[in-house]
Amino acid sequence: MATRRLELHPIDQGSAALLAPVFAKEEVWRYPYGRAFTPAETEAFVAGQVEHWETLGFGLWTVLELGSPVAVGYVGLSVPTFLPEVLPAVEVGWRLDPQVWGRGYATEGALAALQGGFDVLGLDRVISLPQTDNLPSVRVAERIGMRCDRTLVAPATPKRGPVEVAVMAISRGEWTRRPESGRSAF
Ligand SMILES: CC(C)(COP(=O)(O)OP(=O)(O)OC[C@H]1O[C@@H](n2cnc3c(N)ncnc32)[C@H](O)[C@@H]1OP(=O)(O)O)[C@@H](O)C(=O)NCCC(=O)NCCS
Repeated sequence: MATRRLELHPIDQGSAALLAPVFAKEEVWRYPYGRAFTPAETEAFVAGQVEHWETLGFGLWTVLELGSPVAVGYVGLSVPTFLPEVLPAVEVGWRLDPQVWGRGYATEGALAALQGGFDVLGLDRVISLPQTDNLPSVRVAERIGMRCDRTLVAPATPKRGPVEVAVMAISRGEWTRRPESGRSAF
């Protein structure tokens, strides 16, 4: 699938090689891990996302600039199993190479994901769970029409301590009524 400036490909086994150079940058995984991914962590992440696509029929896309063979990150929908108290839920998420930050790609890709969630999957609500101190990510959620419902603490995992996240959300009604101008991904 393509948006105005991006190609979006469902993550598959081949995505690990494309995403590894992006995930090897500390800024990309600063939230929530404070460090870059090793190649093995990228492989494990991709394997999990391939399984997500296979079991649920939707998931994260690898993002490429139109006509470029190089991946610049991911965007898309996933079930936020790391935070059981918000389930059942579908989250829209984004993670891009710092080289392309500031161009609105996260917003463009996220709008395509929301369109898929509401118009194709028929969801009633889509959430996003940025860390409260990750201001660019909170801002992307606001730009796609989400509002903060509440904040929660995601419990520690073996890879990180507890993190405070904003539960940002947009309902089907809010999506349908959104002002179109300047917000389309296509
Ligand atoms: C979050 C992310 C995808 C946003 O990328 P992007 O599309 O390039 O977004 P921008 O850089 O254009 O910034 C988006 C908004 O945040 C604002 N912003 C950027 N840096 C900021 C900062 N340090 N403090 C406050 N606001 C900031 C921008 O001004 C912009 O708001 P605007 O549209 O009102 O001008 C990118 O920063 C990223 O990949 N970060 C690492 C991965 C990550 O943390 N993902 C989120 C996990 S929840």
